Amino acid sequence: MAQLVRFGVSLERDLLSRFDTFLKEKKYTNRSEAIRDLIREDLVKKQWQEDKEIAGTITMIYDHHKRELVNKLTDIQHGFGGIIISTQHIHLDHHNCLEIIAVKGRPKAAQELADTLKAVKWVKHATLSMSSTGRDI
Ligand code: NI
Repeated sequence: MAQLVRFGVSLERDLLSRFDTFLKEKKYTNRSEAIRDLIREDLVKKQWQEDKEIAGTITMIYDHHKRELVNKLTDIQHGFGGIIISTQHIHLDHHNCLEIIAVKGRPKAAQELADTLKAVKWVKHATLSMSSTGRDI
């Protein structure tokens, strides 16, 4: 486990009060964990901006009955094979499929894959969750 270091932070009373309200809303039980998460959130954002190796997921919903849609989505994914590390397909109901694509690699490729899938006709919803490999955060 990494060594913990204590440090003091000076804040305006108002700001601290708002921060404590935020902690409660977000279910934090102490300030340290909330501060750690805020710092890491920013570091992850920086990894995406600076084109470092990242990990994340693309989640999409589509109607598998639409002609050629499944083939098209598969073709697109084969074109991005290098960054896709896993996919999961869930049959939500008679019409709708939920697909989760785990990616690891360059942010630009992940974003391009998400944008390409999202722009396909009959993909009802797609989001990219920008996360991290867990290194350097
Ligand atoms: Ni399905």
